[in-house]
Amino acid sequence: MTKPLYTCFATLCQELASSGQTEAQAEAWHILTHVTGANRTALLTQWRETLSRGTQRQLASILRQRKTGMPLAYILGKWWFCGHLIAIHKGVLIPRPETELLVSVAQTFIQKDTHIFELGVGSGAIPMALAMTQNIHYDGWDVSKRAIINAQENLAAYGQSQIRLHHQSFFAKTAYWRKSRHASGHILFVSNPPYIPPEDMSGLQAEVHYEPKKALVGGYAGLSFYKRLFTQCLRQSTPCHMVVEVGISQSGPLSALLEKYPNYAHTWHVDLADIPRVLAIFPTESITPLPHK
Ligand SMILES: C[S@@+](CC[C@H](N)C(=O)[O-])C[C@H]1O[C@@H](n2cnc3c(N)ncnc32)[C@H](O)[C@@H]1O
Repeated sequence: MTKPLYTCFATLCQELASSGQTEAQAEAWHILTHVTGANRTALLTQWRETLSRGTQRQLASILRQRKTGMPLAYILGKWWFCGHLIAIHKGVLIPRPETELLVSVAQTFIQKDTHIFELGVGSGAIPMALAMTQNIHYDGWDVSKRAIINAQENLAAYGQSQIRLHHQSFFAKTAYWRKSRHASGHILFVSNPPYIPPEDMSGLQAEVHYEPKKALVGGYAGLSFYKRLFTQCLRQSTPCHMVVEVGISQSGPLSALLEKYPNYAHTWHVDLADIPRVLAIFPTESITPLPHK
């Protein structure tokens, strides 16, 4: 039997909520817009119309997968970041709202000649969002081949193929940023590095375990990527700027680490829960950026 859209929506919300999804209504909208190809406004005008059997079967299949705990982004093969719909492949980190804060802080540091280097480009969410508002020189690194392929797809889809992607460790001795940072004018390092302490992994939501460990686990206390970034990037003779996302409760240890770098000052940027989630570092002699709102 075919069912009207509003019944399908109500059933989806109920089923998602009863399987423990806290964002059941938002997820139901994502699923409905995905299977119908229509946006919310269009769907509301067709609320009493029926969904075809094929579309209902597709809905049921998505729901079945979601109930196993698989993240919705992997089931749909796409996710929303900074207002843009981007492709997300299985095995690549799903971009989070905190990373949108990183993007807006990084934007305040970009000048005409800024060259941006990213550690851990993942799906390409950060360069894609930055390139949508400004003309940027950008090089991104990732050790994951899947991530590089995913990022290439997103950047091509948004006409940003000039952004260069490197399938290599950011810390490789031959990494291009090491040479080019001396030639370029204004350098900005950005990263949402793996920052989860290994011992915290078992306490995370089941769905996080679908994501690659390499994208999540950040060594002892979750700080090893920051330590390497600071020693390798801030100790160079040419000054640079850096904007990184950090884990909950990492602001104290990171501020302490930064005391070793007297030529740099830093600011913290908080999320909606007032937790510092983005760290911006800049040379003490440079003009202090406007506080991020
Ligand atoms: C937390 S994810 C961030 C992905 C993306 N920037 C985002 O915010 O959605 C970290 C990424 O760093 C990559 N990565 C881990 N170690 C790396 C290394 N040494 N060099 C470059 N990338 C690395 C992982 O493969 C993963 O894609």
